[in-house]
Amino acid sequence: MSDRTQAVPNDLNAFWMPFTANRQFKKNPRMFVGAKDMHYTTSDGRQVLDGTAGLWCCNAGHARPKIVEAIAAQAAELDYAPAFQMGHPKAFELANRLIDIAPDNMEHVFYTNSGSESVETALKLALAYHRARGEGSRTRLIGRERGYHGVNFGGISVGGIVNNRKHFGGLLTGVDHLPHTHLPEQNAFTRGRPAHGAHLADDLERICALHDPSTIAAVIVEPLAGSTGVLIPPIDYLAKLRAICDKHGILLIFDEVITGFGRIGQPFAAQRFDVMPDMITTAKGLTNGVIPMGAVLTTGAIHDAFMDGPENMIEMFHGYTYSGNPMAAAAGLATLETYRDEDLLTRAGDLANYWEDAAHSLKDLPNVIDIRNLGLIAGIELAPMDGKPTARAFEAFLRCYDKGVLIRTTGDIIALSPPLIISKAEIDQLFGTLAAVLKDLP
Ligand SMILES: Cc1ncc(COP(=O)(O)O)c(C=O)c1O
Repeated sequence: MSDRTQAVPNDLNAFWMPFTANRQFKKNPRMFVGAKDMHYTTSDGRQVLDGTAGLWCCNAGHARPKIVEAIAAQAAELDYAPAFQMGHPKAFELANRLIDIAPDNMEHVFYTNSGSESVETALKLALAYHRARGEGSRTRLIGRERGYHGVNFGGISVGGIVNNRKHFGGLLTGVDHLPHTHLPEQNAFTRGRPAHGAHLADDLERICALHDPSTIAAVIVEPLAGSTGVLIPPIDYLAKLRAICDKHGILLIFDEVITGFGRIGQPFAAQRFDVMPDMITTAKGLTNGVIPMGAVLTTGAIHDAFMDGPENMIEMFHGYTYSGNPMAAAAGLATLETYRDEDLLTRAGDLANYWEDAAHSLKDLPNVIDIRNLGLIAGIELAPMDGKPTARAFEAFLRCYDKGVLIRTTGDIIALSPPLIISKAEIDQLFGTLAAVLKDLP
């Protein structure tokens, strides 16, 4: 065994793992001890093809040289700088590079450390923006059923995943939800964007009529819902949401924590769908998942609304000790350079047809009840086992892992989102392994 394969902790008890069945995991742990490009190395020395870009974040693959070098150099040069009332050049440089690739109406960047924090930040900016403009009555936030916006109180309040909400009390007040867009009876096995469901955006008019638009600050949606099991937006749905928000003076926030940074063939989903929100929340692919960092992108109008009053006053009472941290900023810059050098922000579009054919080749396998895809994302929904929801997909996950492929499951849905550097041969391996597993599943 190499030194690396011995790098396994001797006791698993102390670490309370997030979003994990701790007792089950600790009886039979799955450990990664290394990663390079498209592969992880397990503690028992096996290579595992990464079908999920870690957790939808390692869009350039693993241990990419530019990023590794940038982090090492930054640690030696400037490890930390205070985030409040002080600056360092790379945080400004990264903000500019982000604006370069963002939709044209995005002009400013507020740094956070995660997707959850980006969501909290965007919701707070929305409330404070309306207040700054003298519309302080706009306090309601509208999310969507089956939405995932991280795990902090604002995010779970506007989110719509019951297990993430039901344990945690009354949540934020003044929140309402649009219906989700999952219409399996009309849209099952659609390739790309489904034809049915644009009308579901009209529910925002019902919500406006119920509460009065003058009480509503913002609508937040994932342009493509990832964590709830890959729900692709119906054709025209997002444009309709935008139009209704415009009509009533409501801000539209796209949570692009998953769709940002090339996942569906453009830097951001807003560009792919040609619908421009007022704010975009990001994290994950911003630093290739290597150093925690998030960012909220905003329009000039939102930013400028805060820029009055005495110049010596802090304009927005919000921020984090690690906002724009030098290590994260260095990782972010090197990540964006890697994306640019290798054309990764549009590569998902080039591979989309091949990926789509590979995903839909699973159609006739046992228990497959739907397949959904866009860019380099696929969702494969399985019929649940009688009385044991989630067990069938989890068994597929375990068997794929044994066969050297990492997939991700949410409920009985398999969600695939590989690094954007994946080759066609690796796409074949990913779906070939999954097909073999699905053929034999109980
Ligand atoms: C759309 C969306 N928003 C927010 C988050 C939360 O991000 P984090 O886990 O970095 O807090 C996620 C994470 O998967 C996400 O998919």
